[in-house]
Amino acid sequence: MKTHVSEPLCAQDPGRVLGRTAEIAVGWLRSLDRRPVRESATVGELRSRLGGPLPERSADPLAVVEDLARAAEPGLVAIPSGRYFGFVIGGGLPAAVAADWLTTIWDQCAGPYVCGPAASVAEEVAGAWLGQLLGLPPHVSFAFVPGCQTAHLTCLAAARQHVLRVAGWDVEERGLAGSPPLRVLVGAQRHASVDRALRFLGIGRAGLTVVPADGAARMRAGRLREALAGGDGPAIICAQAGEVNTGAFDDLDAIADVAAEVGAWLHIDGAFGLWAAASPALRHLVSGAGRADSWAFDTHKWLNVPYDSGLAYCAHPDAHRAAISVFADYLVLGGPGEPREPMDWTPAFSRRARGFAVYAALKSLGRQGVADLVDRTCAHARAFAAGLAGLPGCELLTEVVINQVLFRFGDDETTDRVLRRVVESGEAWLSGTTFGGRRAIRLSVCNWQTSEDDIARALGAFRAAVTACLFSWSRRRAVPPGPASPDAFGSGWRPVPARAAVESTRRRLGTWWAPRSSKPVSAALRRWRVRFPSASAELRERALGAAGADARCGGLGRPVRTGLEHPFMIRPPRPAWRPPRRRPGGPAPRCGCSAMSSRRRRARASCAGSPGPPRRPGPGWPRCACPRAA
Ligand SMILES: Cc1ncc(COP(=O)(O)O)c(C=O)c1O
Repeated sequence: MKTHVSEPLCAQDPGRVLGRTAEIAVGWLRSLDRRPVRESATVGELRSRLGGPLPERSADPLAVVEDLARAAEPGLVAIPSGRYFGFVIGGGLPAAVAADWLTTIWDQCAGPYVCGPAASVAEEVAGAWLGQLLGLPPHVSFAFVPGCQTAHLTCLAAARQHVLRVAGWDVEERGLAGSPPLRVLVGAQRHASVDRALRFLGIGRAGLTVVPADGAARMRAGRLREALAGGDGPAIICAQAGEVNTGAFDDLDAIADVAAEVGAWLHIDGAFGLWAAASPALRHLVSGAGRADSWAFDTHKWLNVPYDSGLAYCAHPDAHRAAISVFADYLVLGGPGEPREPMDWTPAFSRRARGFAVYAALKSLGRQGVADLVDRTCAHARAFAAGLAGLPGCELLTEVVINQVLFRFGDDETTDRVLRRVVESGEAWLSGTTFGGRRAIRLSVCNWQTSEDDIARALGAFRAAVTACLFSWSRRRAVPPGPASPDAFGSGWRPVPARAAVESTRRRLGTWWAPRSSKPVSAALRRWRVRFPSASAELRERALGAAGADARCGGLGRPVRTGLEHPFMIRPPRPAWRPPRRRPGGPAPRCGCSAMSSRRRRARASCAGSPGPPRRPGPGWPRCACPRAA
């Protein structure tokens, strides 16, 4: 059997493998609109597709790639799709993706300058551009890291070094044992990656002072001041620009004031929120951010650079370098022209040349393009929230600050069920969370590809999920029977999409006009055999209100905007009456007629021999005495 391991890629026909890989990649990208956003295979299926014994022999690289693509395909989540709204995840800008491919092909080791001169300079340039774009001070140092988690680690290592040095302690030399106690103040709604970075640095949970947050998940600056007033010594404050659920921003100016008063190091977790600084319309949200001592954020989120890509910035390059740099005799560092040594700034030793993709993203978008990207995705988030607000039972938990929307439906169980249905539909992917002790759904719009169409499709998936869940929710709950209770509808009512209900009514009535009355719209709908399934009158009124329809329609011949997106109930037409069949040799069929009215005589007369459908029976009405009476 032919082996391939000794044959370098360049000695084979590189176009054979890479060309085919490009075809597979393009095929995947083109399939995004059609494929479900979620994966379609279970973990067991994926294990059996990808698993098996360790191969004993080498294989044709082309076959390996094709097999891998085939086996992995059902386990792929369509993250680059414009309808992926989970966590806080961007897509890949074409220029950034292509540069990332080149990074792999070039395979530079971006540790020491000598292993990747172009990589080092690309990082130098892109790092400076980013600093300008986000309004950071000109003298900052920076490091390209895998993500915000490692950026925290880098920044907080610099913070620890700096505040302890000011207190007369060399932590790099002596470690933490016996050092002056560090005061680390964090917000109650901080991201988990902050705690994790601090843990790596020897600062455990017990060493944290948690500053309470307000209802919108922002650190209370007043409480921070109080917490600091209780002691002295080296202090680090971790503030946040963009809370992961709500997108809320701490009051960075007020926090920077407090930090300045006590000489504390101010670190900002701006994983995605710091990008607000790139938009003139949103820049006010990060007012005061430039006064911080360190900043951590991602480029694989809002800049839409492929994973993994984040940055750490530090206003104290000496502390940054002292905390991170490394030396070994065999390393070749520095040289003519004083090159930037990535190794001095990043905690990794050998590393991927991440700067190329960031460089390409910034070059392809430019300052204006980044601002447009941020503004556009925020506008999509607002549009989504507006659409959601029109769905029955939807509760927006906070205002939309930037690109994050937080909402729920009815109770915890219904919220999770709606989310599950949407994800299972494959139309969109979002994740759940617990906020203020209640289950919620969080949506994040970060992808450069998300369009109005994507928002409409995702809203459609929610509408369908809510229609299904709300109806069964109303049934499950012991709702006292009332005009809006599904139980009051009696049998024969079924939920139908609003559009079908309205269309059906329109067909029956010709036009869809409001009656000349001041009765609630729902009463009018009921008269026309269209009903809301909402469990409560309040829900119904909210649904109508959100749809833009007056809950009361008193206008003269005014068209009622019913909000086609709302679920309605419609009763299917009664089955057509058929004259009873006479069995051969049997008695004459009895009349199906229950044509009773107060004017019995007329009813009797009308049914005598006429094979029409029975008249409407009423409870307790006398039965017809005619031979056709049931
Ligand atoms: C506010 C915040 N901080 C930190 C992180 C961690 O970022 P990464 O996953 O890139 O390490 C996230 C991730 O979503 C985040 O939202």
